[in-house]
Amino acid sequence: MKTTLSFSPAAQLETECLVAVVLDRGEKDKTEAVVSADKAVQQAAADLLSSGDVAGKNFESTWLHKPAGLKAKRLLLLGGGKAKNFSASDLRKLAGAAVRALKPRNLKSLAFLLPEGIPAAEAVKAVVEGAMVGNFDPDTYKSDRKNQNVESVTVVASGDQAALQGAMDEARILGESQNFTRDLVNEPSNHMTPTILANRAQEMAKAVGLKCEVYGADKLKELKMGAFWGVAQGSDEPPALIVMRYEPAGAPEKPVLGLVGKGVTFDTGGISIKPADNMEKMKYDMAGGATMIGAMRAIALLKPKVKVIGIVCATENMPSGKAQKPGDIQTAMSGKTIEIINTDAEGRLVLADGLCYARQLGCTHLVDAATLTGAVVVALGYANAGIFASDDDMYKRFAKALERAGEKMWRLPLDDEYKDQIKSSIADIMNTGGRWGGAITAAMFLKEFAEDTPWIHLDIAGTAWMEDNKPWIAKGPSGIAVRSLVEFAREFGSS
Ligand code: BES
Ligand code: MN
Ligand code: ZN
Repeated sequence: MKTTLSFSPAAQLETECLVAVVLDRGEKDKTEAVVSADKAVQQAAADLLSSGDVAGKNFESTWLHKPAGLKAKRLLLLGGGKAKNFSASDLRKLAGAAVRALKPRNLKSLAFLLPEGIPAAEAVKAVVEGAMVGNFDPDTYKSDRKNQNVESVTVVASGDQAALQGAMDEARILGESQNFTRDLVNEPSNHMTPTILANRAQEMAKAVGLKCEVYGADKLKELKMGAFWGVAQGSDEPPALIVMRYEPAGAPEKPVLGLVGKGVTFDTGGISIKPADNMEKMKYDMAGGATMIGAMRAIALLKPKVKVIGIVCATENMPSGKAQKPGDIQTAMSGKTIEIINTDAEGRLVLADGLCYARQLGCTHLVDAATLTGAVVVALGYANAGIFASDDDMYKRFAKALERAGEKMWRLPLDDEYKDQIKSSIADIMNTGGRWGGAITAAMFLKEFAEDTPWIHLDIAGTAWMEDNKPWIAKGPSGIAVRSLVEFAREFGSS
């Protein structure tokens, strides 16, 4: 998708579709509800607004053809809800909704008029990110697929050109990287084995100038990754340990940020096999790994002055004659022994060794992302991912990144009391903690392997896959957490 900035008066824009945001301002003069100082647009929409037919309700969309006084072929009025609550995050969604309204109509370009009230650079960024996210559809396997992608988005703004162009370029990189992740997550497991995932990471790394090494089963054994291997041993598909390094010239020795992703390309549950209903969804169990690959892409292109190492532990979780069994005891890379109670709690096993390895490579701060537990979906539903942090300062910094990215996560506790639930009578720890607080006991398990390194865990089981179409994003892989991780790494590089 091409993105351009325009500083022309809206009336002069020759475009298939001019998009303007309508906010609900209550009792005020209704024609001013079009949140733009642009008088021409206000006039073109005056009758609709004064009649009260268009009120600015969220995602309400009204099409006006041949709008009087404008060169645009159409004016799309998009409702953004109450003016006083309107944020960059809402604007991002509206831009996505605009693109998704154009796609079925086969319109290829739009011009988006920035509303007032949000700093221009922030607004440009939100519109471009939202438009890119909205343009994605997971229809690659449909034979009758028509390319309905919007090809060009013009953002109509005023302000400092260089600053706004910078914001636009950043947003493009973020949006593209998020969609890159979504493409990986969308692939079914027969098209996305650990080997294929590793190849995709290597191709990407080559394209953006990252180092990327891929290791197989021999290396897992050499590193004594007994927890990761315990999962991988049951599958005929070889595992892949993917290590991406971003080491920019001039970056300080420390900190080194480690991004560790769960890359289970299919989770059958193993010997503790899952029920057939909905098992097909377990192709997205590599979303955490894909998130880190997408984030590394954006980091390589945005070039913050901080070292970042991305690690993806990729494997299938299969039942077979070679598979690990409940009751088995595995020795993790750190030396801790793990009693396997349920082979379906495999994500924490692969991550245990991934986190340990990241520490060995010198990471001073760790973030992991994983579709780790059904319990986090019970706790938080689909609107918020679960976030856990061992360090309050690191959490605060991450919360700022969430704010900038417009992504939602809710912090859950890591109190010592929960540790009792994963005590084993015959090994150091066991891999499940019973029914209650399942997302928390999974996180407590990981904490044992992050040890004293400041660490954040993102449980994206409920958010990595959209269950329904939304006005601003297609049903399917969401790419959640990519933008926040990148914003976090950038902030890390600036302090
Ligand atoms: N990949 C699943 C978690 C999951 C569930 C992701 C639903 C996306 C949607 C994970 O490996 C798993 O199976 N977790 C178990 C843990 C249990 C056995 C302690 C779970 O949540 O049921
Ligand atoms: Mn599982
Ligand atoms: Zn899993």
